[in-house]
Amino acid sequence: MGRLHILDHPLIQHKLTYIRAKDTGTKEFRALVEEVSMLMAYEITRDLPLVETTVETPVGVAQTKVIEGRTLALVPVLRAGLGMVHGILNLIPNAKVGHIGLYRDPDTLQPVEYYCKLPQYMEERDVIVIDPMLATGGSASAALRAVKARGASSIKLMCLVAAPEGVARVQADHPDVDIYAAALDQGLNDHGYIVPGLGDAGDRLFGTR
Ligand code: PRP
Ligand code: URA
Repeated sequence: MGRLHILDHPLIQHKLTYIRAKDTGTKEFRALVEEVSMLMAYEITRDLPLVETTVETPVGVAQTKVIEGRTLALVPVLRAGLGMVHGILNLIPNAKVGHIGLYRDPDTLQPVEYYCKLPQYMEERDVIVIDPMLATGGSASAALRAVKARGASSIKLMCLVAAPEGVARVQADHPDVDIYAAALDQGLNDHGYIVPGLGDAGDRLFGTR
């Protein structure tokens, strides 16, 4: 079964508090999500494989290391996942970025796919699927299915806030995928929102309602 990793670095937890606060406006919300995403990416990429190499310095030759294989693929789930991409790209500027468009039908809460464009050679890349909210888990499960259908096999799921229901759904549907979150909350309300969560991530990022 995939593991749930809660990233409890103090800077991540501190910033998440202000992301959650209902009085945090769009500009600050966006900036904080970007900052927290960069910090989370630092933790999530801790186990990337390295290969030995050499580099000529001004005074000699250093035996050193670089990340093995093809560059990573980041796959944000539209819309809200977009808010996390730039923070990660600050750390990993060469990463390729694919996009999966999903929205949750407000009545059935089922994800509806409307767009999918991924980098080439997904089967050779480490892939991070990104969505700030893991609520029922329907969207994340569909996004993971979509990247697997295009060949990906080394996949992590990154979210800001997870609900137990979403974690259980992803673990059941995708036992090979580890989940990385900044917080595991109490559960879902009748509208499928995470409680206490942070509200509607897409609306708060983009100032819509
Ligand atoms: C939100 C969120 C996730 C999804 C999580 O997207 O960004 O993608 O809901 O819910 P789930 O785990 O129950 O599937 P939403 O459908 O509101 O679309 P948006 O990002 O375009 O606002
Ligand atoms: N989508 C959101 O944006 N927030 C939630 O709490 C649940 C789904």
